[in-house]
Amino acid sequence: MANYLNAFFFGIYPYICLAVLALGSIVRYDREPYSWRSGSSQLLRRRQLVLGSVLFHVGVLIVFFGHLVGLLTPIAIFDILGISHGFKQVMAILVGGVAGVLALIGATLLVHRRLYDPRIRATSSFSDIAILLLLYAQLLLGLLTIVASLGHLDGEEMVKFMSWAQGIFIFDLGAWTYVADANPIFKLHIFLGLTIFLVFPFTRLVHMLSAPLRYLWRPGYQVVRSRQFFGRTIGTGPQAGSASGAANADLIPGKTASSSPAE
Ligand code: HEM
Repeated sequence: MANYLNAFFFGIYPYICLAVLALGSIVRYDREPYSWRSGSSQLLRRRQLVLGSVLFHVGVLIVFFGHLVGLLTPIAIFDILGISHGFKQVMAILVGGVAGVLALIGATLLVHRRLYDPRIRATSSFSDIAILLLLYAQLLLGLLTIVASLGHLDGEEMVKFMSWAQGIFIFDLGAWTYVADANPIFKLHIFLGLTIFLVFPFTRLVHMLSAPLRYLWRPGYQVVRSRQFFGRTIGTGPQAGSASGAANADLIPGKTASSSPAE
């Protein structure tokens, strides 16, 4: 019986979750483009949002890329680079641990804000609250895995998780056997991680797929209004006074922002 459960949860469930993640996201983007956002609540309790959000995002992004590289890089590459399994395990514990704690502090602020501020609670949907609590539980479980990992610092247990994750991506039907005997904390953590993939398209997490990375290297813009233009149009016709600054603004890329017409 235990084998059937392991085969289902670590052999079949991953494909169900990945398929729903991919197809669900495409369908949502296609059919409900205007719901594709993170649903900002920035107008309410901004200071707690900024601190919580920055800590949470920095921590989770480090954990995310740590998982991506740590689980999906072929083991042979670490061996060729001379990175021992023990060293990789210790790095996962240290870097993942610090990032996980940062994310947990941020998530605590975000959960507190969302649940205990009546106005934010009232403007939150079921999925807004559910996904935050799921991520919170996942962070706690992830940090708990560190306690288990301290018991096998040689990194051999971690190699099993890498073999499992890579096995899933190459359609190795026996991949589940790598994790069948793992500590239940790891198994619960992996199950919940997969469940987050499953519900992803139905939550605000979709905003991850359209992170505005372009903002990092786009030039600044300067809004310029022409005084002369205002002088000529105000009070001279049916459009008098309606020539708003915005309508007559030029955007000059590459300059720092300034919008004062008196400059
Ligand atoms: C399907 C998705 C996921 C899988 C398969 C997965 C798997 C794992 C594994 C195997 C470890 C132990 C690494 C070791 O040997 O030390 C781990 C640790 C951890 N996970 Fe995940 N995880 C997933 C998603 C997540 C998510 C979504 C979060 C955060 C919200 C998270 C947070 C953590 C943290 C904080 C640790 C401890 C530090 C570290 O080793 O990076 N995990 N995860």
